Amino acid sequence: MKVTLRIWRQSGPDESGKLVDYQMDDVNPDMSFLEMLDVLNERLILNGEAPVAFDHDCREGICGSCGMVINGMPHGPQTLTTTCQLHMRTFSDGDVIVVEPWRSAAFPIIKDLVVDRTAFDRIIQSGGYISVATGSAPEAHSQLVPKPDADLAFENAECIGCGACVAACPNGSSMLFVSAKVSHLNVLPQGQPERETRVLRMVEAMDLEGFGGCTNTGECTNACPKGIPQASIARLNREYLRASLSGRR
Ligand code: FES
Repeated sequence: MKVTLRIWRQSGPDESGKLVDYQMDDVNPDMSFLEMLDVLNERLILNGEAPVAFDHDCREGICGSCGMVINGMPHGPQTLTTTCQLHMRTFSDGDVIVVEPWRSAAFPIIKDLVVDRTAFDRIIQSGGYISVATGSAPEAHSQLVPKPDADLAFENAECIGCGACVAACPNGSSMLFVSAKVSHLNVLPQGQPERETRVLRMVEAMDLEGFGGCTNTGECTNACPKGIPQASIARLNREYLRASLSGRR
């Protein structure tokens, strides 16, 4: 199949960028989107041109490194799919595919399709952890977790921190990300010692990083490759209110 890639090229954080067209002939429909970019980059390197910079690591939908806006949609047109899991058979012969980086004030562009997502790391550092004694693993039944709580924690632990929620949100809000991290830990017994401080500190860090507020547009959940639900944001708000009233910081 033949496609035209219209890719955002920007040589550095302070440089101006523009969309550049690349004609791709002979694309294998079973290639992943990133493999197709690899082929483009091999061609660019052989021609002495700078390859397109993009983030990737696991290429299995696990690490959250990959992330680009494809035809206006974070991770492209297929739901519950990361960019690395997207295949070219999703597109049609002759398509023009527009590829842009995440666009958010809190995710400044480093180069081409690579953005700085360390704001997420700082939010995690502020409260996305639990305190446990080191040593050998505890006996599995020493701390019982009700099945509904385990399922809820697991559902939220699926967040891979890719930032698609921020890229999709018209406000650049990271509420879905923060709500997944808070929900994951706050519903488990292991997360109780820092239950209040966690949510207060993570929301404070989120605001300091310049993310916008949530106005319930729901675009974040639509874009999330792991299907983190809107209910997690409602839980975050309840946890925040509860912690605020508790007086603990
Ligand atoms: S490269 Fe790891 S999720 Fe896509």
